[in-house]
Order: sequence, then C-alpha cells, then structure tokens
Amino acid sequence: MPLPHVLLSAAVSLDGYLDDTGPERLLLSSPADFDRVDEVRASVDAILVGAGTIRADNPRLLVNSPERRAARVAAGKPEYPLKVTVSGSGDLDPAAKFWHTGGEKIVYTTTEGARRLRAADLAADVVALGPGLDWRALLEHLHDVRGVRRLMVEGGGTVHTQLLRDGLADELHLVLAPLFVGDPDAPRLFGPGPYQGGRLRLVETRAIGDVVLMRYEPTAPGVGGLPSAADRHWLALACELAAQCPPSKTAFSVGAVVVADDGTELARGYSREAGDPVVHAEEAALAKIDPGDPRLAGATVYSSLEPCVRRASRPRPCARLILDAGVRRVVTAWREPDTFVAGADGSGALARAGVDVVVLPEYEGAAMTPNGHLLG
Ligand SMILES: NC(=O)c1ccc[n+]([C@@H]2O[C@H](COP(=O)([O-])OP(=O)(O)OC[C@H]3O[C@@H](n4cnc5c(N)ncnc54)[C@H](OP(=O)(O)O)[C@@H]3O)[C@@H](O)[C@H]2O)c1
Repeated sequence: MPLPHVLLSAAVSLDGYLDDTGPERLLLSSPADFDRVDEVRASVDAILVGAGTIRADNPRLLVNSPERRAARVAAGKPEYPLKVTVSGSGDLDPAAKFWHTGGEKIVYTTTEGARRLRAADLAADVVALGPGLDWRALLEHLHDVRGVRRLMVEGGGTVHTQLLRDGLADELHLVLAPLFVGDPDAPRLFGPGPYQGGRLRLVETRAIGDVVLMRYEPTAPGVGGLPSAADRHWLALACELAAQCPPSKTAFSVGAVVVADDGTELARGYSREAGDPVVHAEEAALAKIDPGDPRLAGATVYSSLEPCVRRASRPRPCARLILDAGVRRVVTAWREPDTFVAGADGSGALARAGVDVVVLPEYEGAAMTPNGHLLG
C-alpha cells in the first residue's frame, strides 16, 4: 500500500536533548529556523505530534505566515495542514491549544483510548486502530482516507524513535542548537533499540542563524515482504537508471541497484551498459560484486522491471543470477508485460524459490517511461 512521504523534524541541543525538564518549553531553534519550519509546515498535507508533546508543550502547530496560508488556499489546499496526534491512553486535555487552533484534527488511538476521547467530545476525528497502535495502519489511513501525501512529524522522541526504527521515515530534518541541557532526565530525540546498522545519507547541511540544519535519508532496505521508506528511494534510483539505457527496439530499458542490509550500495547497473548490447540491468550490477561477498546474503536487488526468467541472449536469466548470488530479497516496480516473452513471471519464480519479492506499483509509471516506444 502506498504511504505518505514521512518527514521527521526536530531540534536538539549539542548534547542531544529535545528539551530540558523545566515546566516551560525549551526554545532550541533560532527565529530564522522557526521561519524555515513554518515554510516546511506550509508545504505538507498534515503535521503529527505525539500526545506527550501536546501535554508537555501545548503547541498550536500552525502555519504562521499569512502569505504561505494564502498560497496554500490559492493552490486549492486547506489553509492549514491537517493536525494529527497519537495517544494510546486517550488522556488528552480538551482545553489544549491543539484542538482550538488551525484546521481539521484527527487523533489515532486504541479501542480503549477511543472510549475516553469520545467521552471528552473533542473537535476532532477519533480513529481507533484496535487494541494497539500500528504505525503502518495509521499511515495507510492517512494516505487512503485523508489523502495525505506528505506528513511532517514534529516529535517527540517516542514518536520519532518508532518511525525511524520501523523504516517508515523518508527523511530527517535535524537542527543542532548551540547550547547544552546537561540533565540526564531530559528527553532525547532517539531512544535505545535496534536501528539500521549502517549510515544514513546526508543530503543537505545549512547554517540558519546560529543553528545548523542537517537533512538525512535512511538507506536500509526493508525486511522480508514489508517495504521501508528507503526501499522507495532505491527503487526510484533504479527507475532513474533505466532512463540512462541506450535505446533499443528489441529489449526493455531497466535499471538495477544492489544494496546491503545496512544501506550500503554494493553496485548498480542498467540495460546495455558499457557497450554490451545484450546485458541486463541486474546482470550488469551483480557482475560488479565479488561473488564471495558475504553481504549478498542479506542484500536487496532493486529492479525497475521484475527480473527475467527466460532469455535467449545469455544462458542464465536474471532471476537465476539473483538466486545464484544468494540474494533473497527483490523490490521491483513493474511486472513484465508480454511484449517479448509471453507469461513471464520473474516475481513468481523468485518467490517460489524463497525470495521475498516486493512490488511497489506506485513506481510503475517511472519504470515504463523509458519503454514507451515498446508498449504501443
Ligand atoms: N526539540 C524538538 O524539536 C521537540 C519537538 C517535539 C517535542 N519535543 C519534546 O519532546 C518531549 C515529548 O516527547 P515524548 O517522547 O515524551 O512524547 P511524544 O513522542 O510526543 O508522545 C508520546 C505519546 O504518544 C503516544 N504514542 C506514541 N507511540 C505510541 C504507540 N505505539 N502506541 C500508543 N501510543 C503511542 C503515547 O500517548 P499516551 O501516553 O497518551 O498513550 C505516548 O505517551 C517534550 O519534552 C517536548 O518538549 C521537542
């Protein structure tokens, strides 16, 4: 199921804290950075904070600039993004500013929490997700029912930690503020637990007054049949590589990337790369990796078109090459049409051989674009 693009946004002190333990909210950002946050808020469909942040900070979560609100309205959007919160307990103060400012509100909760919240008669939609709170179900609901395509998450640490660890965050906007908190009881941005093993991708740094904004993207592939946000980034890259293929009237243009489980890119390739008129994308990428590389067993192959199962140009089709390489996870955008091979089912063949195959049809259009001349 497609999910919204999830953007985590937070400011931390030099010693990594989100706040101090005093009764007032600790202001970490500079005025110029608060204006940047306002700009990001104006660009999204919804803003989410956890119940802990409502209780601690009593935020309004508005787009403050009248010009930005006017631009949203001119673009056919609501004046304010949808405000979203999560609470397992349903213990939320009906007098909090969250409910009484801005546009529409929605609270995701448990069956038990919903009973409490409905009794409180809040000016908000109350959505019960069952006995527990499942983040994927919450994001699917926001996407499918509320039409949210971009979601900004403004904390706190409990919420950020879960979204990052579950592979549901597409990007992290982290602001480092030049001050210390120094109190071990203060809340941290990320709690303990299992995070991706490798490194996130740094996509931007920017000085804003005396703070620094760093933008990172997670890189670790999902696990098994569950897609992660990083899976979407890698598959988008595979689709971009497909556009680099020398054109052909007799073969598809396909891009492929092989990524280790810690998010390290092992190799990439595309059809007819380096003057080889018949090489396939997955074949080109796998040929660049030492077959003894132990990371292959935990790697994911991203391919804009599902790997082939029958081919005349080489003895082993790409599905076989993937299996022989020891790779056990494939993410693809597009099931092979009957253009050259009738009934090709690379995904089915791989799945029957024990490979987790994830198809993300939201990238099908990007995968098909360089092949438009073959599809009639
Ligand atoms: N510096 C910054 O950028 C920034 C931004 C935001 C917040 N903050 C700070 O962060 C602190 C608050 O962080 P926090 O970690 O305590 O709170 P939080 O992440 O805002 O909210 C946590 C609450 O959300 C609900 N929740 C989250 N995940 C859940 C799940 N899987 N199942 C059920 N309920 C779930 C629970 O509510 P219930 O307890 O109601 O069940 C939980 O207590 C405050 O000090 C605030 O100032 C700083």
